Amino acid sequence: MTAKNILITGATSGIGHSLFDYYHQLGNNVIACGRNQEKLQEMAEQAYMTGQFDMTIPSEIEAFSKSVDSLDILVLNAGNCRYIDDAKHFDGALFADVIQTNLISLGWLLQYFLPKVREGGQVVFVSSSATLMPFQRSEAYGASKSGVDYLANSLRLDLIKYKIDVTLIHPGFIKTPLTEKNDFPMPFLLTSEEAAQHIAKAIDNRKEYAHFPKRLTTLLKFFSIMPNWIWRKLIVKG
Ligand SMILES: NC(=O)c1ccc[n+]([C@@H]2O[C@H](COP(=O)([O-])OP(=O)(O)OC[C@H]3O[C@@H](n4cnc5c(N)ncnc54)[C@H](OP(=O)(O)O)[C@@H]3O)[C@@H](O)[C@H]2O)c1
Repeated sequence: MTAKNILITGATSGIGHSLFDYYHQLGNNVIACGRNQEKLQEMAEQAYMTGQFDMTIPSEIEAFSKSVDSLDILVLNAGNCRYIDDAKHFDGALFADVIQTNLISLGWLLQYFLPKVREGGQVVFVSSSATLMPFQRSEAYGASKSGVDYLANSLRLDLIKYKIDVTLIHPGFIKTPLTEKNDFPMPFLLTSEEAAQHIAKAIDNRKEYAHFPKRLTTLLKFFSIMPNWIWRKLIVKG
Protein backbone atom coordinates (compact mmCIF):
# COMPACT_ATOMS: atom_id res chain seq x y z
CA MET A 1 0.00 0.00 0.00
CA THR A 2 1.38 3.43 -0.88
CA ALA A 3 1.30 5.96 1.94
CA LYS A 4 -1.40 8.58 1.62
CA ASN A 5 -1.24 12.20 2.67
CA ILE A 6 -4.15 12.68 5.07
CA LEU A 7 -5.02 15.91 6.89
CA ILE A 8 -7.31 15.55 9.91
CA THR A 9 -8.83 18.52 11.73
CA GLY A 10 -9.61 17.93 15.40
CA ALA A 11 -6.86 15.28 15.64
CA THR A 12 -5.95 16.30 19.20
CA SER A 13 -8.96 14.61 20.79
CA GLY A 14 -11.74 12.04 20.50
CA ILE A 15 -12.73 10.74 17.08
CA GLY A 16 -10.05 12.73 15.23
CA HIS A 17 -7.32 11.41 17.50
CA SER A 18 -8.44 7.81 16.99
CA LEU A 19 -8.55 8.39 13.22
CA PHE A 20 -5.02 9.80 13.46
CA ASP A 21 -3.84 6.63 15.26
CA TYR A 22 -5.60 4.39 12.77
CA TYR A 23 -4.07 5.99 9.68
CA HIS A 24 -0.65 6.50 11.26
CA GLN A 25 -0.44 2.81 12.24
CA LEU A 26 -1.06 1.87 8.59
CA GLY A 27 1.98 3.92 7.58
CA ASN A 28 0.27 6.97 6.11
CA ASN A 29 1.54 10.55 6.28
CA VAL A 30 -0.94 12.08 8.66
CA ILE A 31 -1.17 15.82 9.26
CA ALA A 32 -2.67 16.37 12.71
CA CYS A 33 -4.48 19.66 13.27
CA GLY A 34 -5.97 21.30 16.35
CA ARG A 35 -5.44 24.17 18.79
CA ASN A 36 -3.98 22.26 21.73
CA GLN A 37 -0.22 22.88 21.40
CA GLU A 38 0.74 20.45 24.18
CA LYS A 39 -1.20 17.61 22.57
CA LEU A 40 0.19 18.42 19.13
CA GLN A 41 3.72 18.33 20.55
CA GLU A 42 3.04 14.85 21.99
CA MET A 43 1.87 13.73 18.54
CA ALA A 44 4.69 15.40 16.61
CA GLU A 45 6.88 12.31 16.44
CA GLN A 46 4.19 10.19 14.84
CA ALA A 47 2.64 12.91 12.73
CA TYR A 48 3.93 13.76 9.28
CA MET A 49 3.25 17.34 10.27
CA THR A 50 1.22 19.11 12.93
CA GLY A 51 -0.86 22.20 12.33
CA GLN A 52 -1.80 24.45 15.19
CA PHE A 53 -4.55 26.83 14.20
CA ASP A 54 -7.97 27.96 15.29
CA MET A 55 -10.19 27.08 12.37
CA THR A 56 -12.48 30.04 13.06
CA ILE A 57 -9.56 32.37 12.22
CA PRO A 58 -8.96 32.37 8.44
CA SER A 59 -5.48 33.97 8.66
CA GLU A 60 -4.28 31.12 10.92
CA ILE A 61 -5.57 28.48 8.49
CA GLU A 62 -4.03 30.32 5.54
CA ALA A 63 -0.63 30.57 7.24
CA PHE A 64 -0.52 26.83 7.99
CA SER A 65 -1.91 25.82 4.59
CA LYS A 66 1.21 27.23 2.93
CA SER A 67 3.24 24.36 4.40
CA VAL A 68 0.89 21.67 3.07
CA ASP A 69 1.49 20.14 -0.39
CA SER A 70 -0.71 17.58 -2.05
CA LEU A 71 -3.45 15.81 -0.08
CA ASP A 72 -5.13 12.47 -0.80
CA ILE A 73 -7.71 12.80 1.97
CA LEU A 74 -8.97 15.90 3.76
CA VAL A 75 -10.93 14.97 6.90
CA LEU A 76 -13.02 17.86 8.27
CA ASN A 77 -13.76 16.43 11.68
CA ALA A 78 -13.20 19.19 14.27
CA GLY A 79 -16.27 20.62 15.92
CA ASN A 80 -17.94 21.50 19.18
CA CYS A 81 -21.32 20.96 20.79
CA ARG A 82 -23.13 23.41 23.05
CA TYR A 83 -26.77 23.28 24.05
CA ILE A 84 -29.47 25.94 24.22
CA ASP A 85 -30.67 25.44 27.80
CA ASP A 86 -33.49 27.98 27.81
CA ALA A 87 -35.03 28.42 24.36
CA LYS A 88 -37.34 31.23 25.49
CA HIS A 89 -34.26 33.26 26.46
CA PHE A 90 -32.31 32.29 23.37
CA ASP A 91 -28.54 32.63 23.64
CA GLY A 92 -27.57 34.25 20.34
CA ALA A 93 -23.87 34.30 21.19
CA LEU A 94 -23.85 30.56 21.85
CA PHE A 95 -25.74 29.97 18.61
CA ALA A 96 -23.25 32.09 16.65
CA ASP A 97 -20.29 30.33 18.27
CA VAL A 98 -21.51 26.85 17.34
CA ILE A 99 -22.42 27.84 13.77
CA GLN A 100 -19.08 29.63 13.43
CA THR A 101 -17.08 26.61 14.58
CA ASN A 102 -19.03 23.77 13.00
CA LEU A 103 -20.11 25.36 9.73
CA ILE A 104 -18.56 28.70 8.80
CA SER A 105 -15.01 27.53 9.51
CA LEU A 106 -15.52 24.70 7.02
CA GLY A 107 -15.77 27.34 4.29
CA TRP A 108 -12.34 28.67 5.27
CA LEU A 109 -10.86 25.18 5.54
CA LEU A 110 -12.19 24.36 2.07
CA GLN A 111 -10.85 27.62 0.66
CA TYR A 112 -7.31 26.89 1.81
CA PHE A 113 -7.08 23.07 1.67
CA LEU A 114 -9.37 21.93 -1.15
CA PRO A 115 -7.00 23.21 -3.87
CA LYS A 116 -4.40 20.84 -2.39
CA VAL A 117 -6.59 17.73 -2.76
CA ARG A 118 -5.34 15.84 -5.78
CA GLU A 119 -7.46 14.38 -8.58
CA GLY A 120 -8.81 11.06 -7.27
CA GLY A 121 -8.73 12.37 -3.69
CA GLN A 122 -11.44 12.60 -1.06
CA VAL A 123 -13.02 15.15 1.26
CA VAL A 124 -14.65 13.76 4.39
CA PHE A 125 -17.17 15.64 6.52
CA VAL A 126 -17.88 14.45 10.07
CA SER A 127 -21.44 15.65 10.65
CA SER A 128 -23.84 13.99 13.09
CA SER A 129 -26.83 11.67 13.26
CA ALA A 130 -28.45 14.53 15.21
CA THR A 131 -29.50 15.90 11.80
CA LEU A 132 -31.79 12.91 11.24
CA MET A 133 -34.40 14.39 13.61
CA PRO A 134 -34.88 17.54 15.70
CA PHE A 135 -33.80 17.13 19.33
CA GLN A 136 -34.41 19.35 22.32
CA ARG A 137 -31.67 21.87 23.22
CA SER A 138 -29.98 21.11 19.86
CA GLU A 139 -31.07 24.24 17.98
CA ALA A 140 -27.45 25.38 17.49
CA TYR A 141 -25.66 22.04 17.09
CA GLY A 142 -28.38 20.53 14.89
CA ALA A 143 -28.57 23.62 12.68
CA SER A 144 -24.79 23.68 12.24
CA LYS A 145 -24.59 20.00 11.33
CA SER A 146 -27.60 20.21 9.00
CA GLY A 147 -25.64 22.93 7.22
CA VAL A 148 -22.66 20.58 7.02
CA ASP A 149 -24.89 17.90 5.43
CA TYR A 150 -26.07 20.31 2.73
CA LEU A 151 -22.57 21.62 2.17
CA ALA A 152 -21.16 18.11 1.70
CA ASN A 153 -23.98 16.91 -0.55
CA SER A 154 -23.82 20.01 -2.72
CA LEU A 155 -20.02 20.04 -2.91
CA ARG A 156 -20.04 16.38 -4.01
CA LEU A 157 -21.88 17.40 -7.20
CA ASP A 158 -19.47 20.22 -7.99
CA LEU A 159 -16.34 18.16 -7.37
CA ILE A 160 -17.30 15.40 -9.82
CA LYS A 161 -15.50 17.25 -12.61
CA TYR A 162 -12.35 17.39 -10.48
CA LYS A 163 -12.64 13.63 -9.74
CA ILE A 164 -12.73 14.30 -5.99
CA ASP A 165 -15.15 12.23 -3.90
CA VAL A 166 -17.05 13.56 -0.90
CA THR A 167 -17.93 11.32 2.05
CA LEU A 168 -20.50 12.42 4.61
CA ILE A 169 -20.42 10.75 8.02
CA HIS A 170 -23.25 10.59 10.57
CA PRO A 171 -21.92 9.18 13.84
CA GLY A 172 -24.24 8.34 16.72
CA PHE A 173 -23.06 8.79 20.32
CA ILE A 174 -19.31 8.40 20.73
CA LYS A 175 -17.48 8.48 24.07
CA THR A 176 -15.21 11.55 23.81
CA PRO A 177 -14.62 14.77 25.79
CA LEU A 178 -17.44 16.30 23.69
CA THR A 179 -20.05 13.89 25.08
CA GLU A 180 -18.61 13.77 28.62
CA LYS A 181 -20.77 16.74 29.58
CA ASN A 182 -24.01 15.15 28.33
CA ASP A 183 -26.47 14.67 31.19
CA PHE A 184 -28.88 12.40 29.30
CA PRO A 185 -28.80 8.73 28.27
CA MET A 186 -26.67 8.02 25.19
CA PRO A 187 -27.90 4.73 23.72
CA PHE A 188 -25.46 2.45 21.88
CA LEU A 189 -22.46 4.59 22.86
CA LEU A 190 -19.33 3.61 20.89
CA THR A 191 -15.66 4.21 21.66
CA SER A 192 -13.74 6.67 19.51
CA GLU A 193 -11.65 3.74 18.20
CA GLU A 194 -14.82 2.01 17.00
CA ALA A 195 -15.99 5.27 15.41
CA ALA A 196 -12.63 5.66 13.65
CA GLN A 197 -12.93 2.15 12.20
CA HIS A 198 -16.41 2.90 10.84
CA ILE A 199 -15.18 6.16 9.31
CA ALA A 200 -12.05 4.60 7.80
CA LYS A 201 -14.13 1.81 6.27
CA ALA A 202 -16.41 4.40 4.65
CA ILE A 203 -13.39 6.31 3.36
CA ASP A 204 -11.68 3.17 2.02
CA ASN A 205 -14.88 2.13 0.23
CA ARG A 206 -15.29 5.69 -1.09
CA LYS A 207 -18.82 5.78 0.32
CA GLU A 208 -20.87 8.91 -0.29
CA TYR A 209 -22.56 8.46 3.07
CA ALA A 210 -22.08 6.37 6.20
CA HIS A 211 -23.99 6.24 9.49
CA PHE A 212 -23.31 4.26 12.64
CA PRO A 213 -24.10 2.53 14.89
CA LYS A 214 -26.90 1.19 12.69
CA ARG A 215 -28.90 0.14 15.82
CA LEU A 216 -29.34 3.84 16.59
CA THR A 217 -29.33 5.50 13.17
CA THR A 218 -31.81 3.05 11.61
CA LEU A 219 -34.17 3.70 14.51
CA LEU A 220 -33.79 7.47 14.04
CA LYS A 221 -34.40 7.18 10.30
CA PHE A 222 -37.51 5.12 11.01
CA PHE A 223 -38.83 7.67 13.55
CA SER A 224 -38.13 10.53 11.16
CA ILE A 225 -40.54 9.16 8.53
CA MET A 226 -43.34 8.79 11.11
CA PRO A 227 -45.94 11.54 11.49
CA ASN A 228 -44.55 14.53 13.42
CA TRP A 229 -46.84 14.04 16.43
CA ILE A 230 -45.46 10.54 17.05
CA TRP A 231 -41.79 11.44 17.12
CA ARG A 232 -42.51 14.70 18.96
CA LYS A 233 -44.12 12.67 21.76
CA LEU A 234 -41.23 10.23 21.81
CA ILE A 235 -38.57 12.96 21.93
CA VAL A 236 -40.22 15.27 24.41
CA LYS A 237 -40.85 12.32 26.75
CA GLY A 238 -37.18 11.34 26.29
N1 LIG B 1 -18.78 12.42 20.18
C1 LIG B 1 -19.95 12.23 19.58
O1 LIG B 1 -20.87 11.55 20.13
C2 LIG B 1 -20.19 12.79 18.22
C3 LIG B 1 -21.38 12.38 17.56
C4 LIG B 1 -21.64 12.88 16.29
C5 LIG B 1 -20.75 13.75 15.69
N2 LIG B 1 -19.61 14.13 16.35
C6 LIG B 1 -18.71 15.06 15.66
O2 LIG B 1 -17.43 14.50 15.58
C7 LIG B 1 -16.45 15.53 15.56
C8 LIG B 1 -15.37 15.24 16.60
O3 LIG B 1 -16.00 15.23 17.87
P1 LIG B 1 -15.37 14.54 19.16
O4 LIG B 1 -16.49 13.89 19.86
O5 LIG B 1 -14.17 13.76 18.80
O6 LIG B 1 -15.01 15.85 19.98
P2 LIG B 1 -13.74 16.28 20.90
O7 LIG B 1 -13.13 15.08 21.53
O8 LIG B 1 -14.23 17.39 21.75
O9 LIG B 1 -12.71 16.85 19.82
C9 LIG B 1 -12.99 18.03 19.12
C10 LIG B 1 -11.79 18.39 18.27
O10 LIG B 1 -12.11 19.56 17.51
C11 LIG B 1 -11.06 20.50 17.65
N3 LIG B 1 -11.59 21.86 17.57
C12 LIG B 1 -12.70 22.36 18.18
N4 LIG B 1 -12.83 23.67 17.92
C13 LIG B 1 -11.77 24.00 17.16
C14 LIG B 1 -11.34 25.23 16.59
N5 LIG B 1 -12.02 26.37 16.74
N6 LIG B 1 -10.20 25.23 15.85
C15 LIG B 1 -9.50 24.09 15.67
N7 LIG B 1 -9.85 22.90 16.19
C16 LIG B 1 -10.98 22.87 16.94
C17 LIG B 1 -10.46 20.23 19.03
O11 LIG B 1 -9.12 20.68 19.00
P3 LIG B 1 -8.38 21.39 20.27
O12 LIG B 1 -8.90 20.68 21.49
O13 LIG B 1 -6.95 21.14 19.99
O14 LIG B 1 -8.80 22.80 20.21
C18 LIG B 1 -10.56 18.71 19.11
O15 LIG B 1 -9.44 18.10 18.53
C19 LIG B 1 -17.21 16.84 15.82
O16 LIG B 1 -17.44 17.50 14.60
C20 LIG B 1 -18.52 16.37 16.42
O17 LIG B 1 -19.56 17.26 16.19
C21 LIG B 1 -19.32 13.67 17.59
